[in-house]
Amino acid sequence: MTAASRSPKDFFRPLAVGAPTPLREIPARPSRAIHFFDPSNPKMAAKVPDMVGTVDVLLGNLEDAIKADNKEAAREGLVEIAQETDFGPTQLWTRINALDSPWVLDDLTTLVPAIGDKLDVIMVPKVQGAEDIHYVDRLLAQLEAKAGLEKPILVHAILETARGVANVEEICGASPRMQGLSLGPADLAADRRMKTTRVGGGHPGYLVREDPPRIDGVANLEASRATYQQDLWHYTIARMVDACAMHGIYPYYGPFGDISDTTACEDQFRNAFLLGCVGTWSLHPKQIAIANRVFSPSVEDVAHARRVVAAMGDGTGAVMLDGKMEDDASLKQCLVMVELAEQLAAVDPELKQQYDAIETEA
Ligand code: GLV
Ligand code: MG
Repeated sequence: MTAASRSPKDFFRPLAVGAPTPLREIPARPSRAIHFFDPSNPKMAAKVPDMVGTVDVLLGNLEDAIKADNKEAAREGLVEIAQETDFGPTQLWTRINALDSPWVLDDLTTLVPAIGDKLDVIMVPKVQGAEDIHYVDRLLAQLEAKAGLEKPILVHAILETARGVANVEEICGASPRMQGLSLGPADLAADRRMKTTRVGGGHPGYLVREDPPRIDGVANLEASRATYQQDLWHYTIARMVDACAMHGIYPYYGPFGDISDTTACEDQFRNAFLLGCVGTWSLHPKQIAIANRVFSPSVEDVAHARRVVAAMGDGTGAVMLDGKMEDDASLKQCLVMVELAEQLAAVDPELKQQYDAIETEA
C-alpha cells in the first residue's frame, strides 16, 4: 500500500502549511444522483438554482462532453453559478479535466480560490494509479492553504482505464481526501479495447445460452433455446465496491447513455445498488427520479430490516422469522438498510413520510 512510504502518523497531516486538516472519516452524505450539468450552456446553467433541493448532488462538468472551445466558458460559468447560488442541502461537485490535458491546472487554480468553500468534491477522470491522486492531493493542499479554506475538498476518482482498475485498491487508499469511485464505462470500454459502442449498460451479444434439450441422451442442437443477457460491468463494479468498502469510501455506478431506455437504466442502477453502490450519475433530469428511487431502500426492505433488528434483541444468537433463520450476520445487513434509510429520511421528506408510516411488529 502506498501509504506505507509515509509514516501512518503523517497520513492525516495537511500536505501544505495552513491547509485544512484531512478528515479521518468520509461523511456518509446522501448522493443517490450526481446530476451533471454543462456550465458553459446558459440554458442549462439557468436551471441549476431551481434544481437545488431536488437532487443530492449537482456536478458542473468541465471534462468530456464539453467542447475544447468551451472549456474556459465552462470553468467561468461554474465559478459564476457557484458564487451566485445557495446550495442548501445539495452538494456541489465538479469534474475537472484529465490530468494529462492542457486545461486541468487552470481548472484547479481557478476553482479552488474562487469557489473552494462551496465545492464538496472534485471528480478526477481517467485516474491511473495512486500517483495521480498524490499529485491532486498536494496541489489542492497548496491551493487550500493559499485561499485560507477551512475544510478539505474531497476527491473522487473515475475508474475508466485498465490500469486504474488494476490499481483500484491503491487509488482508494492514496489520500484521506478520497471520497469515492465511479465507474466510467465508456472510457473504460475504449481503454480495454472492448468491442462495444455504448455508454454503460448491457449488450445483447454478451449472453449465456440454455443447454440444448436432450432426446434419449442426444442433444437436440436445432431446438430453440433461451438466452440470458449478462452484465458486462459486474466484475468492475464488484472490484470497485470491495476497494471502496476496504477504505471506508463510496462506490457509484456512472453514466447510462440511453436516456430513453429508462427500464434498462433502472436495472443497471439497481444491480449497482444491490452490489453495494450508494449512487449513480444522472445525465438527464429523468434519471434523477430513477436514481432516487433505486438508491433508497424500499419500504418493504426497511420494514423487514426493522423487524429483524427488533427481533434480534441484543444482536446475538439466532431467531426464526417467517420460517427464515436470522442471526448476527443478517442483522448486520439489516442495520445497513436501517442506517441508510435514516440518512436519506433526514434529507428527503417524502421518503421520511413513507418510512415513518411503517408499523413495526416483531
Ligand atoms: C465516463 O466518463 C465514462 O467514460 O463512461
Ligand atoms: Mg469518461
